[in-house]
Amino acid sequence: MAMNPLDNKAQAWSALFSEPMSELVQRYTASVDFDQRLWRADIDGSLAHADMLAAQGLISAQDLVDIQRGLDSIAQEIEAGRFEWKLELEDVHLNIEARLTQLVGDAGKKLHTGRSRNDQVATDVRLWLRGEVDQIAAALVEMQRALVELSARHADTVMPGFTHMQVAQPVSFAHHLLAYVEMFARDGERLADLRKRINRLPLGAAALAGTSYALDRERVAKALGFDGVCQNSLDAVSDRDFALEFSAFAAITMVHVSRLSEEIVLWMSQNFGFIDLADRYCTGSSIMPQKRNPDVAELARGKTGRVVGHLMALITLMKGQPLAYNKDNQEDKEPLFDAVDTVRDTLRIMAEMVGGTHDPASGSWSGGLRVKPEAMRRAAMKGYATATDLADYLVKKGLPFRDAHEVVAHAVKAAMQEGVDLAVLPLATLQGFHSAIEADVFDVLSLQGSLNARDLVGGTAPAQVLQQVERHRARLA
Ligand code: ARG
Repeated sequence: MAMNPLDNKAQAWSALFSEPMSELVQRYTASVDFDQRLWRADIDGSLAHADMLAAQGLISAQDLVDIQRGLDSIAQEIEAGRFEWKLELEDVHLNIEARLTQLVGDAGKKLHTGRSRNDQVATDVRLWLRGEVDQIAAALVEMQRALVELSARHADTVMPGFTHMQVAQPVSFAHHLLAYVEMFARDGERLADLRKRINRLPLGAAALAGTSYALDRERVAKALGFDGVCQNSLDAVSDRDFALEFSAFAAITMVHVSRLSEEIVLWMSQNFGFIDLADRYCTGSSIMPQKRNPDVAELARGKTGRVVGHLMALITLMKGQPLAYNKDNQEDKEPLFDAVDTVRDTLRIMAEMVGGTHDPASGSWSGGLRVKPEAMRRAAMKGYATATDLADYLVKKGLPFRDAHEVVAHAVKAAMQEGVDLAVLPLATLQGFHSAIEADVFDVLSLQGSLNARDLVGGTAPAQVLQQVERHRARLA
């Protein structure tokens, strides 16, 4: 057997070099420590490539059998943790190829026909990311389901809605939660859309210009489940905009999670007391014995920073790179991997915390989040949340809205001086602010009346909210 160039640790690529790499350069340029997680995609890509090479008569049927056998045992070695990853072989691609040649001889050396690591790595990352995208899409659905099912039980639970973090108008807890469902639904749409652009095959682009071998790119695309092939070889090996899009998705999704987390933290504080979290989602303090901290929500909020950072890292990485492949692109992996891990794990844990576990057999629901409707109602009673309803009432009695607004401002001022809610002022006092006010005013001054009044699409009336719950249930089924 001819000498395998990959056996020579310092000379993985060519006999041209006359001195070995320094150890520092080797460590600096190697990616195997992190890109080994692409191994399965690398093997799948190689199997499809080899199968096509054989079909095109570029390697023999026996070569193909040998390559398949070798890659199969490599997969087993890696899975069993027996594979020896070598730093001197730089990356996942050269490690697997070297081992293949060790196992099956010359056939292994033919695998790289018509291929470059440039189109190979672009293919691997796309294949790997596609699989992760599908898992994240499922986690997003779970997150939405958890929120929808919690909402289904709280269409009548009134809480204060805020603007500027000041009590504004009453809303139902369900309506509030469903706002997040809308956000996560859009995240899901973004993900499904960007998946289409991930799912294109770079192989065949070779180093940058295409290849002189008669490859059948469509065959490889089909074998790997790609929707089609990249149409320009320079673009195929060099752009990572699919990774940028994914990271933008991940950053936006994490921002949504972070907003919800911030609310969970606020709601759990003693000053709100709207919810409680099950112990399994809290930690204690090493010094203050009374503390139960909502660490999961805080960490989700905190981890948003690093995912936003990964988006910045990747965008900056791409900026200023001339065509075609540059080694800069090796730096795409760690941010991308961490963005994937963080958004997936965060969605899973938040879905579990918000939804708890549901046992369909017994119908029992061990929720991670306990809602305290009484505390929400008490908070909604503060801050004159139904003042707008009084203004709307006067408008319906014939006042122009601006005049009604002014009348109610006087009423609120008077109620504040008394330290009471509008609904507590006697009818005679209210009539002192405007003669159009009659006894039916107390219907609109109640929290429930305020909620019920907003009975239009997108409004907080329980009837509307329950319709939304059903729409989401059908969409997520
Ligand atoms: N490890 C490399 C990367 O992640 C693989 C491609 C290397 N190509 C090259 N021409 N050096 O980008």
